[in-house]
Amino acid sequence: MSSGESHATAVAHPNIALVKYWGKAAVEDNLPAVGSLSITLGGLSTTTTVRFDPALEHDRFFLSGREDPTMGHRVSACLDRLRARLGSGLHAVIESENDFPTAAGLASSASGFAALVTAADAALRGNLPPEDRADLARQCSGSAARSVFGGFVELRLTPGGPRPTETSQLLPPEAWPLEVLVAVTSTGPKETGSTEGMLRTERTSPYYRAWVESSPADLAGARAAVVARDFEALAEISEASCLKMHGLMLSARPGLLYWNGTTLECLHRIRKLRRSGVPVFFTVDAGPQVKAVCLPEGVERVRAELAAVPGVLRILETGLGEGARVLR
Ligand code: DP6
Repeated sequence: MSSGESHATAVAHPNIALVKYWGKAAVEDNLPAVGSLSITLGGLSTTTTVRFDPALEHDRFFLSGREDPTMGHRVSACLDRLRARLGSGLHAVIESENDFPTAAGLASSASGFAALVTAADAALRGNLPPEDRADLARQCSGSAARSVFGGFVELRLTPGGPRPTETSQLLPPEAWPLEVLVAVTSTGPKETGSTEGMLRTERTSPYYRAWVESSPADLAGARAAVVARDFEALAEISEASCLKMHGLMLSARPGLLYWNGTTLECLHRIRKLRRSGVPVFFTVDAGPQVKAVCLPEGVERVRAELAAVPGVLRILETGLGEGARVLR
């Protein structure tokens, strides 16, 4: 460690979108084509320490103690944006840990970039407000902006505003304590990453324009359902947004098919449970895992039903959590 070294550690949680982000309005600064609405998952965490050191000539990124040059490239590009913003030329060692299995196919980029920007800002004593950290995290990975905040979160497109996107909390986690069960149906790496999948969809799907145009109505409906704590309304809009996104993905060329047979069986079971009165709905991202969102009284029935589906490898359970924050 040389003099002039400065460091900070931050924690952030993954989030899952109930109204989905898929597609980019601009690739250079990763501007989403649509807004999105999510919940932050308190039971799973990424902890990241950033040490800026004048003796370093380039950044080095370690995930779970192992240097990861591939991801390190993206991490470094993200730090470049923050350095430009704060007028710093220092490089850093970045150490990151997830307390959830990376192979479980849960997006760690959202919690990862939210924790990175929060720790790096603290280490450089930038004191950026969370809205600015969210907009920076969004440029590194769209979904990461939402992990800067806890509970129910919305990312809006605000062209012409002080920031091109505004991310904010709609409700704190304790205001409506939903539970999430993640049915892990595969631990393999996904075939097509989100960024590549989005670009292919935009280029080739005949439905892309309809997807973009119909998003504001979904957002307005979901926002109203969250504010009113109307579970039925949120369930209906969330499943519709999820299925519409997967319909869009399927319509790309070649089609993006992220589900396996177990994924589909879980969706049928969750719909059947809701028809029988259990307060639960599903959502699925760019992978085969199924996320069941439910009221606390539904947890046991949902867990038992999903555990009985052949092909479900494990079930993770979590409540909602706080936004990204500095630990030390
Ligand atoms: C299906 O945020 O991973 O999970 O901005 O290219 O890094 P990039 O994409 P990313 O995409 C997330 C897509 C999604 C839906 C969502 O989280 O809204």
